[in-house]
Amino acid sequence: MCGIVGYIGDKNIHNLLISGLKRLEYRGYDSAGLALCKENQKNLKVFRSKGKIVELEKLLSKVDDKFSCGIGHTRWATHGVPSVQNAHPHVSNDGKIAVVHNGIIENNEHLREVLIEEGFKFSSETDTEVLVHLISKYYKDGDLFEAVSSALKNVEGTYGIAVIAADKPGVLVGAKNGSPLIVGIGENEMLLASDASALGAYTSEAVYLSDGEIVVLNADSYHTYNLEHVEINKDVEEIQIEMSRIEKSGYDHYMLKEIYEQDKTINDCFRGRLLPEQGIVKLGGLAQIEDKLKDYKKITITACGTSWHAALVGEYLFEELAGIPTEVEYASEFRYRNPVLTKDNLVIVISQSGETADTLAALREAKMRGCTVLGITNVIGSAIARETDCGMYIHAGIEIGVASTKAFTSQVTALFLLAIKFGRTGKISGTKGIEYLKALMKLPELVKKIYKKSEDIKKIALEFSSKRNFLYLGRGIQFPVSLEGALKLKEISYIHAEGYPAAEMKHGPIALIDEDMPVVVLALQYGVYDKLISNIHEVKARKGRVIAIASENDKTIDKIADYVIRVPVTLEALSPILSVIPLQLLSYYIAVERGCDVDQPRNLAKSVTVE
Ligand code: AGP
Repeated sequence: MCGIVGYIGDKNIHNLLISGLKRLEYRGYDSAGLALCKENQKNLKVFRSKGKIVELEKLLSKVDDKFSCGIGHTRWATHGVPSVQNAHPHVSNDGKIAVVHNGIIENNEHLREVLIEEGFKFSSETDTEVLVHLISKYYKDGDLFEAVSSALKNVEGTYGIAVIAADKPGVLVGAKNGSPLIVGIGENEMLLASDASALGAYTSEAVYLSDGEIVVLNADSYHTYNLEHVEINKDVEEIQIEMSRIEKSGYDHYMLKEIYEQDKTINDCFRGRLLPEQGIVKLGGLAQIEDKLKDYKKITITACGTSWHAALVGEYLFEELAGIPTEVEYASEFRYRNPVLTKDNLVIVISQSGETADTLAALREAKMRGCTVLGITNVIGSAIARETDCGMYIHAGIEIGVASTKAFTSQVTALFLLAIKFGRTGKISGTKGIEYLKALMKLPELVKKIYKKSEDIKKIALEFSSKRNFLYLGRGIQFPVSLEGALKLKEISYIHAEGYPAAEMKHGPIALIDEDMPVVVLALQYGVYDKLISNIHEVKARKGRVIAIASENDKTIDKIADYVIRVPVTLEALSPILSVIPLQLLSYYIAVERGCDVDQPRNLAKSVTVE
């Protein structure tokens, strides 16, 4: 987590760094800072503030000097509370070197003791501060690259760092190990960032650093080395970011904008990948395993958070549609529990950001055990996308709201495509394949119909916004949707919520139900509908208040539920893509009513790049 941005060139640096940091704020937003450097300036100019980037911006409002290079940081605390002292950049005791860091220095306790013994003074509780003192210890003869590489040889852990020195106003050094770092190549200017979204406004050419690499930037050149100082030639890649996707475009929040993008993003996920008249799915990213699809005897899907919920839908899809035994694992547990994996086990990792540390670790574990790993990611060029053997992008466009919405529906769309692809080698006939794909192609129009329920959902949200607990119930393929609905509510409104398989309720959670407990039931008219109705009766008999997500023409539900939000009818396998949208809107309106910071909820960050 944490966002890093660096710049060297002749633009107005502090404004540029601030706007870059704003693009990265979703990575962490508890404090922020900048360090700036120019010719003949003895010490670096450093500005740090607690809170969001706007606080830092206020500090800079009176700065009108021209600087030649600078680094900035937006923080998500791992070591040390959010405070000015713990905010980055961290500066050497002589005020000449500044470092911003994303990641965790695992041996920081030991390094801190050694450095204190050597006379260095620490002013923060962060693990990062050891880096700046180490670099300053090795900084001799004005060679910043040498100092950074020597310092990093002492370090265990993960880092993406950017470093500047007061007496080297024309040099910016970056290094990467386990946390992303990208060089943006401009004309007589170079940029450095932990995420391409901070670069897209200035350049379309980028170099993605690999682990163990250091880059030395001047305004007109960049050179990449490994820690042994061997220069490495890197490919220049194109950054593909639609800038309109990182603006709010008139919406009050990114989350709302992203909810309303779903008709388009679902379409973008399957566009160009279907031969509908033949019931065939074409996935270029699977070329490497195209001939082996039939050989996989088991699929293991691993992910975190919302992506894990999509994985649970995937389990249903692979088993139901393609007939392949599938299991789902939390990525954070996967590598610590000695999973039984064989070579005919395909491992699928799902991650919106493509940077989640737990998911990346699970991917590496699966590869180490000889499995083929297929990635489903959104961020192009992300670590997970790069390290998997094959995969597919969901093409949802940048997702900025910390609460994931459009990524979920696109991940489920991608899993549906994969299930058809695998299923067509056996269980799914041509006719069935055609039926599935035609239903998929109708989804974007059906999604638009749900947007029209927005005002009704808002009214329900106002009615329940002061509640302290919510229960979400679903069965079969709707159970993961109940988990996802509960997660959305928890994340952005800080209301306790639990998702539960509806029939499990009677084994415990039913004790919670009284007239104060809102129960959101995913009561769509599929297989176990009658049993769900019985579950709703059980809730009503205990005076629970039921909000049902129901099929368009369902008449029965009006008689028992207190509130009904209707969604259009589609195939059961595709129904989570529709039923989750009212839940996203319900959480959104509840959070707005409670005055919560919807896009940047407390304690969270968009990409969790620490274990
Ligand atoms: C979702 O709303 C969350 N903010 C979070 O659970 C997220 O889905 C999780 O951290 C996984 O992220 P990823 O998809 O980028 O790997």
